[in-house]
Amino acid sequence: MIFEPITVCDLNIRNRFVRSATHEWLAEENGRLTSRIGDMYEELAKKEVGIIITGYSYVNPRGKSSDKQQGIYDDRFVEPYQDITSRVHKYKSKIFAQIVHGGRQAKPTTKYPIPIAPSPVTDTSSGITPIEMTEADIFETIEDFTNAARRAKEAGFDGVQLHCAHGFLLSNFISPYTNKRTDRWGGSVKKRTQIIVNIIKRIRQTTGNDFPIMVKLNATDGFDSKSGKIGLDAPECVEIAKILEQNGICAIEVSGGISEAGPIMSRSAINKPEKEAYFKQYSKAIKEAVNIPIILVGGVRSKTMMESLLSDGYADMISMSRPFIREPDLIIKLKSGESEQVSCVSCNKCFDPSGVKCNYL
Ligand SMILES: Cc1cc2nc3c(=O)[nH]c(=O)nc-3n(C[C@H](O)[C@H](O)[C@H](O)COP(=O)(O)O)c2cc1C
Ligand code: SF4
Repeated sequence: MIFEPITVCDLNIRNRFVRSATHEWLAEENGRLTSRIGDMYEELAKKEVGIIITGYSYVNPRGKSSDKQQGIYDDRFVEPYQDITSRVHKYKSKIFAQIVHGGRQAKPTTKYPIPIAPSPVTDTSSGITPIEMTEADIFETIEDFTNAARRAKEAGFDGVQLHCAHGFLLSNFISPYTNKRTDRWGGSVKKRTQIIVNIIKRIRQTTGNDFPIMVKLNATDGFDSKSGKIGLDAPECVEIAKILEQNGICAIEVSGGISEAGPIMSRSAINKPEKEAYFKQYSKAIKEAVNIPIILVGGVRSKTMMESLLSDGYADMISMSRPFIREPDLIIKLKSGESEQVSCVSCNKCFDPSGVKCNYL
């Protein structure tokens, strides 16, 4: 099944593989793309990746989380993105821009020394207490995401992915741990999801109904039960997925983890089948509750697992990040029978501020 085509967001996708968003540390300091990022995406397209999701691209300089992160906060970035989408579209791959605001995990700068977030909940991993957003901040952020999506459309992307995972702003809103608001943006699951719903509506008004919007969703914040911290988890993530579907999201990529909870998102040492696909119970629960395609990311490492995730109803597509850093030609190898599993050992040495690459052996 993994090599069979599928329709996602009304797009014909050549196979079931997604390259999950992967920050490259290769943009200029102001967020402008460099051709090295285009080289990577073109290589992935050439090597038959069904959908490529870009590295997280910040919608406002205040929402930047990392050095050399790509930005989409200004119209002057449309042109370099156009170059990338046309390079990818020479092949049969689709490309989505992942758009993000760093929220509580934004990197303090001279201009913005304290990050903004739904509530002033101290991040115990960084010691930073963010500033609580005003209503004006919230509406400004909705417009920032809307403008970013408009730019993505102008640049020829096949769609956008709203980054609602990993402890960044939109995942701060949906989590009961980081959202303590008592106004219309906090409290019930519906109210915590409201900012995303408003973003979807504004993107629709601005780009039209046919521009695909998908979401990367935190299914769990990842806190250990012994930590005493109550974060987002099932069944609330299922409820959120349903709200997103009702509001026109066309696919959900299921992930998890915020930085305060430790290394949940990209677990290390995935060296036996039991450790693979570590968010699969969440994707299954979400898939059973909605009718849009579900994409599963996180520790998928063998062809056997990929096939069974699809045939046993855990997901419709398989998403990977680290395996494609090490082997951009992974799909070709799996298809030809040259490989039965990825050679990435999940050591995380590719988190490399000098430019993402496999640094293992
Ligand atoms: C170097 C690196 C950069 C990443 N950058 C992003 C990112 O920009 N946006 C995002 O949503 N996830 C990012 N991730 C997380 C991956 O997309 C993925 O969710 C996670 O690594 C688990 O998948 P894997 O086991 O296939 O690597 C990154 C992961 C790595 C290794
Ligand atoms: S450094 Fe290489 S082997 Fe290690 S996790 Fe990254 S891609 Fe995989």
